[in-house]
Amino acid sequence: MAGLTNSGSGGSTPRDKACVQDSIFTSQYNRLVLDVPFPDHVMIFDTTLRDGEQTPGVALSVEDKMTIAIALADLGVDVIEAGFPMTSPGEREAVRKIAALKLPSRICGLARCTKADVDAVIECDLDYVHTFIATSDIHLKHKLRMTREQVKAKAVETIEYAKGHGLTVEFSCEDGTRTDLEFLKDMHIAVQGAGVDKINLPDTVGTMSPAAMEYLVRNIMPVTKVPLSMHCHNDFGLAVANSLAAVRQGARQVHVCVNGLGERCGNASLEEVVLGLMAFFDISTNVDTKKIGSTSKMVSRLTGFPIPDNKPVVGANAFAHESGIHVHGVLKDPSTYEAYSPELVGMRRHIVVGKHSGAHSIKEKLSQYGIVLSDEQTLEVVDKVKKLAESGKEVDDAELVALASHVMGQKEKGQRKVQLKEFTVFTGLNITPTSTVVIDMDGELRRSANIGIGPVDAALNAIRAAVSDRITLEEYKLSAITGGSDALCEVMVKLKLKDDGDVMSVGKSVGTDIVLTSVDATIAAIDRLYSRKNA
Ligand code: KIV
Ligand code: ZN
Repeated sequence: MAGLTNSGSGGSTPRDKACVQDSIFTSQYNRLVLDVPFPDHVMIFDTTLRDGEQTPGVALSVEDKMTIAIALADLGVDVIEAGFPMTSPGEREAVRKIAALKLPSRICGLARCTKADVDAVIECDLDYVHTFIATSDIHLKHKLRMTREQVKAKAVETIEYAKGHGLTVEFSCEDGTRTDLEFLKDMHIAVQGAGVDKINLPDTVGTMSPAAMEYLVRNIMPVTKVPLSMHCHNDFGLAVANSLAAVRQGARQVHVCVNGLGERCGNASLEEVVLGLMAFFDISTNVDTKKIGSTSKMVSRLTGFPIPDNKPVVGANAFAHESGIHVHGVLKDPSTYEAYSPELVGMRRHIVVGKHSGAHSIKEKLSQYGIVLSDEQTLEVVDKVKKLAESGKEVDDAELVALASHVMGQKEKGQRKVQLKEFTVFTGLNITPTSTVVIDMDGELRRSANIGIGPVDAALNAIRAAVSDRITLEEYKLSAITGGSDALCEVMVKLKLKDDGDVMSVGKSVGTDIVLTSVDATIAAIDRLYSRKNA
């Protein structure tokens, strides 16, 4: 059973473990139920590119699949299920190209229990096949129209064929969690006799409770001598809980998808499983948790599947605090209202300004922009924020900074020290977007030109070149306010001056032209940065 894992090193040294323990603040009662033997380590089998791509509405190009595979390997997953080669020539091309990348993760292809499917995997230059056949009576009767004996024979024949071609073989009894227990045991014994390397147990329709999962895995373990893997779907929102329950009883690998993508309600989410294993059972994986946030965002962008704001670990609200009581607590010690640190998973803490905000939130938020108000001024801003929020208006950072400037009696737009005097941008097909600017910096004219990967990028690069190459773009947010090709857009830009601590500046603008609106927002942010520096 050689080569089942990669040699990834994203996991934990004793020092890493100590740091991790300092970043997780879960209930002490979790320790009281660690009454079964746990492994130190569990393997992560990622199926974002196979089950994840079966998410309704998701279709990835070959290039996108390669980009995601590289990110998954960098994240440290042990196995990447790159696709289902038999389904189409395009799928085969993607899987072959991923195999050719020679990534540090094992690359695997899905195959039904047929020689043709296994051949398709071999033709993609893979050395790892995940083969499956349904075993529940529901599937046997309504889908396969085969007997249990026929299904078993097909599985054994396919595994022997794949082993004969030198492949690592993982086998799944599809709909395993609705399969008769004695037949499931019979299948596990038979496929081990055929030389299988790993057995995966799919909760194909997501119909298990965690207690039932513990019962099933406990009962199947005595006949399962190869590593047991778990594949849970989320039809009752229990995929992660069921995966953890399976590990409690002996599973040593979990199938996951980034952002919980997958058929119907999805698969167990990578980010939640990895965190759950660490936080509840002190089990390490090869996943570098600090890369979870960026990987999740990238997968969301390429699949076009948004991350819900309230998604655990990677949602926009996962580390956002609005209510005055919570913000006060988190500023004193994050463990008061955070289960684990945002830094542990490559995310950031956000103080959200809204109708529940108190003086602590407002002071903290404004300090991020280098603005210090007196207590009286702070209360004035709190009052204005609450009134705006109660009338249904969202108060973003740019509006908060504008409110604070107003309360301090500072002049806003119209009397900027930094003003755009001239601006051009050239873009089109087969030309490099290029921009020129002339900027008035409090009486001193500065000119510059630069290129970029798009017109907005070129414009922002030209502005930076004219003003200072120490300016870094921390956040750029573009949203459409109205629909249609003449839509109004809103751009918010957050900037920092390198080596100037953590202090940021924010600018916002609304207009019909994305490039001009982005430029105006950037100039507003630079103006604030300079007004503050020269105050
Ligand atoms: O959910 C499932 O049963 C599957 C199989 C292909 C393992 O995805
Ligand atoms: Zn599945």
